[in-house]
Amino acid sequence: MPAPTAHATMARMQRPLLEFRDVARAFGGRTVLSGVSFRLDRGESLSMVGRSGSGKSTLLHLAAGIDLPTRGEVVLDGTPLSPLSDRNRSLLRRRCVGLVFQFFHLLPHLSVADNVCLPGWVAGDPPRATRERARELLAQVALSDRAGDPAGKLSGGEMQRVALCRALLRRPPLVLADEPTGNLDEAAGRQVMDLLRQLTRDADAGLLFVTHSREQAALAGTVLRLRDGRLEAVA
Ligand SMILES: Nc1ncnc2c1ncn2[C@@H]1O[C@H](COP(=O)(O)OP(=O)(O)OP(=O)(O)O)[C@@H](O)[C@H]1O
Ligand SMILES: [Mg+2]
Repeated sequence: MPAPTAHATMARMQRPLLEFRDVARAFGGRTVLSGVSFRLDRGESLSMVGRSGSGKSTLLHLAAGIDLPTRGEVVLDGTPLSPLSDRNRSLLRRRCVGLVFQFFHLLPHLSVADNVCLPGWVAGDPPRATRERARELLAQVALSDRAGDPAGKLSGGEMQRVALCRALLRRPPLVLADEPTGNLDEAAGRQVMDLLRQLTRDADAGLLFVTHSREQAALAGTVLRLRDGRLEAVA
């Protein structure tokens, strides 16, 4: 392959990691999101707040290509998601997105280390490198000594730290987190949030997270609020 031209290199540098272009999503005629436009670049963080039912999880699902807009376009790492086949959208998600959920979604009977390794195995990455990366991440969240335990034996805060490692295993450029501290007490929540920000910063990833905590929302570079289906910047 020829070396990329300066023009191509510049185009890549200027290409946003995630872009919503006038996105709308309706369910059975009921509009949940409309006219949503924003962009997120590598190394940036966005927090999103809004009442229950305002469409925060829906927006994250659109960002991950788990769901598709009724109108408008979501562009992930330069690729518009709507025209892709389900399979190609899954492959793009696997390469580009790390997901963190409120209820961790770990497999309780698998060991902590295996839970972290799972996305690497699914993707067919070299097993030894996957193990090594998992070990490194578990050390960063201070869970090395729990690597062999069944994940179901951990506390909530510990489980979420494992989930962070799993999300970051394959070095995704984008991390999406849906109320990652919603199920934790304040101290555990703060620790998870600190680690989430540190790990994404280390990876130069973009971070988009949903929270009900004003304090946590304010930790992001930009705070967005969903209200009546519209996205607004919070001053
Ligand atoms: N697959 C679906 N089919 C029908 N309606 C849906 C679907 N997904 C979401 N909705 C509706 O869209 C609205 C927004 O839901 P969403 O889960 O995005 O809210 P949220 O802001 O994440 O709320 P919470 O803070 O409670 O998690 C809700 O009224 C919900 O019922
Ligand atoms: Mg939600």
